[in-house]
Amino acid sequence: MPASRRGSGTVTLPTGQTLAFHTRTQDEEDLPHATKKTMADHLRKYESLFTLTPQRMRMIVDAFKDTLEAGLEKHGNTVPMIPTYVFGWPTGNETGEYLAVDLGGTNLRVCLVTLQGAGRFEITQSKYRLTEDQKQEEGQKLFDFCAECLKTFIDQHVGEEPGMINLKPGEKLPLGFTFSYPCSQNRIDHGELIRWTKGFGNPNTEGHDVAEMFRKSLQKYDVPADFISLTCDTTGTLIASHYVNPKTKIGCIFGTGCNAAYMEKVANIPKIKELNIKDDAEIAINCEYGAFDSFEHEHLPRTKYDQIVDETSNKPGEQAYEKLISGRYLGEIMRLVICELIDDGVLFLGQETYKIEKSYAFDTAFLSLMESDPTDELLMIIGIFTHFFALETTLAERQFFRALAKLIGRRAARLSACGIAAIVSKMGYLDEGCAVGADGSLYNKYPGFADRVHEGLIDVFGDKGRNIVTYHAEDGSGVGSAIIAAMTKARKEKGLYTHV
Ligand code: GLC
Repeated sequence: MPASRRGSGTVTLPTGQTLAFHTRTQDEEDLPHATKKTMADHLRKYESLFTLTPQRMRMIVDAFKDTLEAGLEKHGNTVPMIPTYVFGWPTGNETGEYLAVDLGGTNLRVCLVTLQGAGRFEITQSKYRLTEDQKQEEGQKLFDFCAECLKTFIDQHVGEEPGMINLKPGEKLPLGFTFSYPCSQNRIDHGELIRWTKGFGNPNTEGHDVAEMFRKSLQKYDVPADFISLTCDTTGTLIASHYVNPKTKIGCIFGTGCNAAYMEKVANIPKIKELNIKDDAEIAINCEYGAFDSFEHEHLPRTKYDQIVDETSNKPGEQAYEKLISGRYLGEIMRLVICELIDDGVLFLGQETYKIEKSYAFDTAFLSLMESDPTDELLMIIGIFTHFFALETTLAERQFFRALAKLIGRRAARLSACGIAAIVSKMGYLDEGCAVGADGSLYNKYPGFADRVHEGLIDVFGDKGRNIVTYHAEDGSGVGSAIIAAMTKARKEKGLYTHV
């Protein structure tokens, strides 16, 4: 009789699904599994494909830095370095009640944020998961959905008690809209969508002013909201994090997408010279650096799996850097490697593999779960493969999967460090050091992601890399958006740069 084991437990996935497993597996049973030696040989091959040396990282950082500078020079670059018209840092004393609508990569959130000053705030919110269909339907319909959810939220929360929306008849609440896709902005309450990212493809939106589209939906649903500002999650993260930790100089997202924002002197943004803003004023820049190395693919180490991810995406050639890093793609990269081994007859011989052969069937959350499996037998990995893909695995195979997840996750974190390092190096933050507010599912949930980013920064900069410290950011898309709306209202009331 072959040896058998039992393992059981439950785990909650980021999708909200609960995965319960109670499994019995056998290592040496009748199915023809790969040997330990074969798996170790394969692993060596993937190790060399997915490992990023310090030297290679430094080359990437140099090219990245040039790209950031070029984006400030002229309009229309692939990495667009968008001036956001958020002028300087918050004082920390912004106060008042604001609505925030956050259209991110995965969810729609509507929030009521009460800024209390002294870096304090309260937030009440509702969250709606976006379906894949909603990401492809007519653009105006998507904004209608946002407006409808906001209207329902307001109706549910109007009242006298704390945490409720206190609205007098005819009164409107100021609204910050967090729209986390690249938009070129002429003013803070305007934004022309350059291109959809993160798998969205809603027609009749690219090239249109999404602020105007959303205002139209707000009117349609008679929402008592006054549209003040359009921002992206990274700018929100930068501002919200600085509100509570003034050492923050960079805001980053490592989630469904990846991107960063920082504060730049107007003198260093030649492309907005004609706006007549004082040279020593400061404006937050939304880098949209997920687009780094798009189309040309000169600098990043793309494997054939990355190329397939790219070519089969709805936007081939675009978001080249993001496609190696972000949560939307890591699971798919891993799945493609597994499928190659299935095709080569190495894995799962004699088993039905159609479930794992479906594009995007392998969630990035599985990589985190695999890496954090605490059991010797790797019971979590048994659970994932049996429950989601009806596949039996041996311990040697599970060890291979865990090691592969680690390679892909580590490469993502080290590449993430390159983007941060490029901003640090461009801005000369290394000697004095700086704090980097970071948010997103990878940063918050992937075990060891932040440590690997820090290791990467040391590989790029040597010991001084320790001066750059990332930390879990404040909620940029809700609180940050509200602070930006407050700053914008105050700026306009003072009559400062009212044309933007
Ligand atoms: C994508 C978007 C960008 C956003 C990032 C993180 O890169 O284009 O606007 O900041 O994802 O959500």
